[in-house]
Amino acid sequence: MRKTRIIGTGSYVPKMVLTNFDLENMVDTSDEWIIERTGIRERRIAGKDEASSDLAYEASLRALKASGVKAKDIDLIILATTTPDMAFPSTACILQDRLNARKAVAFDISAACSGFIYALSIADQFIKEGTYKFVLVVGSEVLSRITDWSDRTTCVLFGDGAGAAVLQSSTNRHGIISIHLHSDGALKDLLFIPGGGSRNPASKKTIEKGLHYIKMKGNETFKIAVRNLEEAALEATKSNNINASDIDLFIPHQANLRIIQAIAKRLDLSMDKVFVNIDRYGNTSAASIPIALDEAVSEGRLKEGDLILMEAFGGGLTWASALVRW
Ligand code: ACO
Repeated sequence: MRKTRIIGTGSYVPKMVLTNFDLENMVDTSDEWIIERTGIRERRIAGKDEASSDLAYEASLRALKASGVKAKDIDLIILATTTPDMAFPSTACILQDRLNARKAVAFDISAACSGFIYALSIADQFIKEGTYKFVLVVGSEVLSRITDWSDRTTCVLFGDGAGAAVLQSSTNRHGIISIHLHSDGALKDLLFIPGGGSRNPASKKTIEKGLHYIKMKGNETFKIAVRNLEEAALEATKSNNINASDIDLFIPHQANLRIIQAIAKRLDLSMDKVFVNIDRYGNTSAASIPIALDEAVSEGRLKEGDLILMEAFGGGLTWASALVRW
């Protein structure tokens, strides 16, 4: 049976580092509070001339290089983002042009922090069915542009970055074993951007009210994230007749270290089996998992045959898991 295998990964983060100490000078917060409540020490901020497609481009070049696949051979580009360069064309089309991936079909998907796993699931279908041979999946975000830098309850959390993976079909045991996706639109108001779309188009009023910034009910979101991610992990393991202890590396969405630790505890996974880089990047939404995956590869944390569980949670609400044999 045909499977989908990740054959190359890449990531890119902007050069500018914004530390918790820098934030102490911007809002009423402290390095101590941010570390204790979130695990974040610093995050990256895109340069004035950098948009999501620019970060995606750098990450994609690295993933292509690692995979040995040329841009001209890519059949499909799926880009997950909540911060597209513009409403249209899609950031995926802008990326296709930059990469000169002439034959690729390109589109964006919107699933907030779960975007990379959602994109992976679409790529998986196209590859398993034999429609496409090489697919580039990217998560890229410039969240600093939709962050209210005067709101201490959100501005300490987010950062910018991009991660990418090149996928190909495989006929051996390596590759994606299962992906489970979930959505609950009834909880859309926990985490959203009210302005700038067709509901509240951009105007002087929406800007004055800050409606173009991320709004989040952090505490409620936190509790639901822990519960849903635990359930999703159990769903992934049960449906594949494995135990959580069989997982070699857990790569969770990097939203809050306390959420990550709570899930690891519930799954009885020791933290040395959990990949964490939230201290350096904060929450980069759709880019979080592919950046973490790429760092796990480059740090030598993954060996052939390892079982990886990736999990994400974000606005929508959306949440998802992907179980992969490396
Ligand atoms: N510095 C200092 N104090 C702060 C800050 C800050 N940056 N932010 C909030 N506080 C204060 C609050 O005002 C509150 O004070 P009060 O008790 O006097 O009212 C106190 O700290 C506690 O606030 P809580 O919101 O209860 O803090 P909590 O421990 O829940 O941490 C956090 C907040 C970090 C936002 C947490 O709730 C969280 O991580 N939530 C989930 C985020 C998430 O997973 N989002 C989904 C993905 S994001 C996406 O999809 C784009």
